[in-house]
Amino acid sequence: MAISLAHATLFSRTSLFLSRNSRSLAFCIPFSTSSSSSAAAASSSLPSDKLHRNKWRSPVASVLELGGVKIGREDVMRDDPTNNVPDTIFSKLGMQLHRRDQHPIGILKNAIYEYFDTSYPNKFDKFDDLCPIVTVKQNFDDVLVPADHVSRSYNDTYYIDAQTVLRCHTSAHQAELLRRGNTHFLVTGDVYRRDSIDSTHYPVFHQMEGVRVFSPDDWEASGVDATSYAAEDLKKCLEGLANHLFGAVEMRWIDTYFPFTNPSFELEIYFQEKWLEVLGCGVTEQEILKRSGKTNNVAWAFGLGLERLAMVLFDIPDIRLFWSNDERFTSQFSKGQLGVKFKPFSKYPPCYKDISFWINESFTENNLCEVVRGIAGDLAEEVLLIDNFTNKKGMTSHCYRIAYRSMERSLTDDEINELQWNVREQVQSKLNVVLR
Ligand code: DAH
Repeated sequence: MAISLAHATLFSRTSLFLSRNSRSLAFCIPFSTSSSSSAAAASSSLPSDKLHRNKWRSPVASVLELGGVKIGREDVMRDDPTNNVPDTIFSKLGMQLHRRDQHPIGILKNAIYEYFDTSYPNKFDKFDDLCPIVTVKQNFDDVLVPADHVSRSYNDTYYIDAQTVLRCHTSAHQAELLRRGNTHFLVTGDVYRRDSIDSTHYPVFHQMEGVRVFSPDDWEASGVDATSYAAEDLKKCLEGLANHLFGAVEMRWIDTYFPFTNPSFELEIYFQEKWLEVLGCGVTEQEILKRSGKTNNVAWAFGLGLERLAMVLFDIPDIRLFWSNDERFTSQFSKGQLGVKFKPFSKYPPCYKDISFWINESFTENNLCEVVRGIAGDLAEEVLLIDNFTNKKGMTSHCYRIAYRSMERSLTDDEINELQWNVREQVQSKLNVVLR
């Protein structure tokens, strides 16, 4: 087993059954004049779509501009019963860590680009500014995610309204790019997932998606069937990428399941004395190609989480650090310098507070974590279930230990007590649980 680290793939078989703590799963749309997101959904956020975009209204209080599209708070946080996007998430839209050349995420993205540019000169088109607001169709249906898949739940995904989500994986862009005729492409972007709180999980992180399409000329001369040809090419390409990033490491391929590929694999490398899952990939389901008008082709695809890899490559111990503006963090990285080891500037002590309550049927840990993040933001380091029992009457009690810690300064007792007091209040009022 690979170690569990920062957002492993969500769609692999093991995660199908895990709603709690599920991990790793745009053509910018939705800023329609009407409130109908399905109309908006029909549009696309590709940079070439400028004409189209003019149709969309300018937001009243525009704050962000993504790939040339303006996003206002009201485009993301709607007065809609299906909307579950909190302020803390809205504030992350448009941060674009992957487009900063001096940031570990941007440095890693560029290193991967460099590999593809060297191995396949002028072949791969790169997209890194596609809008993270996508339709349910793009995020799930177009890549054949089953209707009852856990990743579609409100517990796991941020919904803007019933048809519109913050993408939970960069695979959301595959189908439309294929439809538009792209045959070799890389898509990098921020992805959003409701999740638990610990040093390797954060509700926003970054992924890169890669797709390569072959035509009959490519495989016919090879003497192997199309699927085997694509699978072999995929493995060769990704082994090369792993060597480029990690040096001469031991690797292994694990058979797995993704809705969008068949066969599907995970690549693991042996790094710092552990097996580390690097990415998920496979041969694209024929149905996806068919729907994109590519009936005579075969393709491969992969998806990798950038934080996961950046944490090991740069020795970054806590995922919250990627979002830090503290110069003691930001000044340690420079353009083109992959794998410079991060030197922790100081460790402030954590402060632990416990909270116990009787849960109800609708209680989920993701909802609890959302409340905690809403109050404590990045000061929340971990929320850990430390006790769990059911009494004779069938009532279940959970006790969670919340660790508060700032990466940048010491927290005062008063400050922490106030946070915890607010957490207790909101846990009661928002989650309808009974405090003990
Ligand atoms: N979208 C998957 C996830 O987030 C990652 C992935 C796996 C992407 C396999 C792919 C793929 O394109 O072929 O968990």
